[in-house]
Amino acid sequence: MGDLRQAGVFARGVLGCAAAAVAVGLAAHAAPGQDSADRGWWAPGAGGTMPAEPAFPNPAGKAAILNTSGPVDTKGHPFFEALGTNGRACVTCHQPSDGMSLSVESVQARWTATGGRDPLFAAVDGSNCPSLPQDRAASHSLLLEKGLFRIALPWPPKSPDGKAVRPEFTLEVVKDPTACNLDPVYGLKSGAPHVSVYRRPRMTANLKYVTSPFSLSGRFDGKRGVPLAINPATGQRVGLPIMSDARAATLTDQAVDALFKHEQVGQAPDAAQLRRIVDYESQVFAAQSAHPLGGDLMAADAPPALGPRALAKGPAIVAGFNWNNPVFLSFDTWRNPRTGDSREQAEFRASVARGYDIFFQRPFWIRDVAWFNSIGMGNPYKRTCAICHSVHMTGNDISPGVMDIGVNNLPTADPRPDLPLFKITCRKEVEPHYYLGRTIYTHDPGRALISGKCVDVGSLVMQQMRSLSARAPYFSNGSAKDLRAVVDFYDRRFEMQMTEQDKVDLTNFLAVL
Ligand code: HEC
Ligand code: HEC
Repeated sequence: MGDLRQAGVFARGVLGCAAAAVAVGLAAHAAPGQDSADRGWWAPGAGGTMPAEPAFPNPAGKAAILNTSGPVDTKGHPFFEALGTNGRACVTCHQPSDGMSLSVESVQARWTATGGRDPLFAAVDGSNCPSLPQDRAASHSLLLEKGLFRIALPWPPKSPDGKAVRPEFTLEVVKDPTACNLDPVYGLKSGAPHVSVYRRPRMTANLKYVTSPFSLSGRFDGKRGVPLAINPATGQRVGLPIMSDARAATLTDQAVDALFKHEQVGQAPDAAQLRRIVDYESQVFAAQSAHPLGGDLMAADAPPALGPRALAKGPAIVAGFNWNNPVFLSFDTWRNPRTGDSREQAEFRASVARGYDIFFQRPFWIRDVAWFNSIGMGNPYKRTCAICHSVHMTGNDISPGVMDIGVNNLPTADPRPDLPLFKITCRKEVEPHYYLGRTIYTHDPGRALISGKCVDVGSLVMQQMRSLSARAPYFSNGSAKDLRAVVDFYDRRFEMQMTEQDKVDLTNFLAVL
């Protein structure tokens, strides 16, 4: 514990980029493939073997990943090698040190270490717009400040068979701070019209909890009452489990999309490479593994849901908003001081246990959430965080599909002068957004950019809740700079009236997941 403090782990969280130099103390221990200037940067094509269970420092202790298939030979491995033209691999944006996602702290350290020349900052989506001068930090401000990549989607959308979808609404650009939506080459009025939104990378770990087919009946989208789509490759039904707008139904579709868009490959990857990528993603688990006051989170007497080994063992995919399979099992072992605990340790652990109680047991009025309150639950509906964050062990949504908690739509979105602002005007005859009607202002229309539907504006697929301390900032648009900001968002959005102690407890709980 003390050793983490000496290594400057705390200072780095607070000072961000400027503290990168502090990390030099860690360099002597860097494994092959890791760059000394970062908390454990894994460069594409670095080669070397990744241990089965490496751990990496972060502002709240350490996060570990567990490769259940054993040490990984990364040389020639399609997840770790750059396959396209811009020098990026999957690992560029899905870093083992960052819960297989990417923290803004790592982004800033790469900028400092490479003078902005790391393939991470490739013009295509690592800058606010490819038409901007690429050598200036200001052109990469959304990535550098919020960890956001540009997601360019065709407008109007195309259905999976390539046909244009007729959108139920018009999309107007009200503010264009990145200059991309009105750009003559990349914008909505260009020869190949695209809409640009800006989103965080999501975790490529613990994926059995995310992609295993589940719905209450096994066949139906419970929210819309329509049959789930069938994956032609497997004949199995699939929900809408991955990507914030669910545009890819399976990990294989997603990998193809990532190769073309993020790695700029020239031709379709072969089936064997795709299988290796999906196999790798499917065997890796990620979670916080140590905390300066919580101690070793995988110790025999630690709460049983913590650490990546517990995730590797847990069942996929079980509803956790009940007492038989509580989302994150039990934190009772930390509720009362144990012999040998310092006062600080005992206080921290008890705080985490109270934070879990808030998450799992404290009801509040959930109001005006499209695809939640709108599906016959009643509005408002009094429930806890766990009703939405319901998958046992990972806390993503058990019910396939999207919802809109108001992270991107006005008036509930946090002020974001850095993001584009769109005005959506829905046609008179279509079903309006349940709570915002037919005129909606939004920073990211979310699922509606794929479905073209007015009811979907701002709705997203939620992420899982593990390894959070390794991958700030939070929410798909990076609007919560730390876990406290997530808690503050909910307190405001749903008028939870948490006390300062409640907020500290809930934040501490999230930090050890
Ligand atoms: C330039 C950065 C970047 C690279 C390179 C990249 N990704 Fe991603 N990845 C993202 C972003 C951003 C998202 C979220 C996109 C969204 O929600 O619309 C994402 C989402 C994902 C998801 C969805 C996880 C979930 O739970 O929803 C998977 C799986 C994934 N990426 C796998 C890959 C694979 C495999 C590769 C390599 C072939 C790859 N990524 C390369 C940035 C990247
Ligand atoms: C009505 C459903 C709902 C409720 C209730 C809810 N959430 Fe969420 N949560 C979501 C959705 C949807 C997202 C995804 C938002 C996004 O990505 O922009 C999310 C995202 C998150 C994230 C961000 C994860 C990340 O990786 O960025 C955290 C943490 C979180 N919620 C914690 C909580 C806590 C704590 C509570 C209770 C105070 C709570 N949530 C209550 C629906 C809900």
